[in-house]
Amino acid sequence: MLRAVYPGSFDPVTYGHLDIIERSSKLVDELIIGVLNNKAKTPLFSAEERVRMLKEVTKGMPKLTIVPFDGLLVEFARRMEATMIVRGLRAITDFEYELQMSQTNHKLEPEIETVFLTTSLDYSYLSSTTVKEVAAFGGDISQFVPDFVADTIREKMNRRRV
Ligand code: PNS
Repeated sequence: MLRAVYPGSFDPVTYGHLDIIERSSKLVDELIIGVLNNKAKTPLFSAEERVRMLKEVTKGMPKLTIVPFDGLLVEFARRMEATMIVRGLRAITDFEYELQMSQTNHKLEPEIETVFLTTSLDYSYLSSTTVKEVAAFGGDISQFVPDFVADTIREKMNRRRV
């Protein structure tokens, strides 16, 4: 039984994340999406909001569990009894950070392997940060995120403007 963790901030979830979720869930028996609740960062959405959006947009996908976590990723993976970490690689700019993170995680927990999926070409330019920036300036984000997420972003930004 192969259980993997796909960790991230998901602030907010994009079509790029969904691509990795769909493709990696075909490779494993169970996929746990770990939503980082990082108290040092100030995300646009709370961990509860990010979990809610993920649950909504992955409705009907099999094998998935969505769980918020804080602290070390390898400890979360160990608690979840997962032996694999999945990460998406978009471009060479991701590589240095991802390499460092996977090697650090491997030093901390040699029993857990990190596996990388290269993002589909359609989404290799996409990031949560750029989605928020486009939305902040009133741009159309419908090709970057599902409708539910786009609506949630718009609501949040409108509330912030008031
Ligand atoms: O979507 P992101 O922001 O690129 O995801 C980053 C994430 C959540 C995978 C990373 O920040 C993480 O694992 N944080 C938990 C803290 C940790 O374990 N750090 C040690 C690895 S260097």
